[in-house]
Amino acid sequence: MSTTEPLLHELLYCSVLAQNQMPTVVGQIVAQARRHNTERGITGLLVFDGIHFCQHIEGPREAVLALLERLRQDPRHTGLRVVYEGSRTERRYRRFDLGFAQSDADDDMAGIQALEGSAALERFLALKPGFDIHG
Ligand SMILES: Cc1cc2nc3c(=O)[nH]c(=O)nc-3n(C[C@H](O)[C@H](O)[C@H](O)COP(=O)(O)O)c2cc1C
Repeated sequence: MSTTEPLLHELLYCSVLAQNQMPTVVGQIVAQARRHNTERGITGLLVFDGIHFCQHIEGPREAVLALLERLRQDPRHTGLRVVYEGSRTERRYRRFDLGFAQSDADDDMAGIQALEGSAALERFLALKPGFDIHG
């Protein structure tokens, strides 16, 4: 990916797996998301703890906002709340169309969901080195 890209948009949101969904649906979500994201210049990281999702996405602004609209309409999760949104000049995730990590800590993702703005993003980024990321 080029380093002279136009301004990037990034967002971090949290949501909860819908009650009628098996946790195994997450594998399908990730496979589908990777195909889409590669085509649209989106990179990011999805973390799932068995109940909560937190997903950090970055890419061209229009592509990120279009993805957010699709995410809001996806019945596989509920309670989507954007906890951080901002602009960046450089990607944080160069390696991933969508990295995926399972969090075993009961409260980490719920804790991010309870935060707001930069505090939420900083907490997520601080946890990142501890994730076993598949990408
Ligand atoms: C937790 C979660 C994360 C998702 N992440 C992505 C993603 O990174 N990229 C993506 O294209 N779709 C993602 N999806 C799926 C979208 O909500 C949507 O189903 C998908 O983009 C396909 O839309 P379309 O086939 O209607 O274009 C995610 C869904 C869930 C529930």
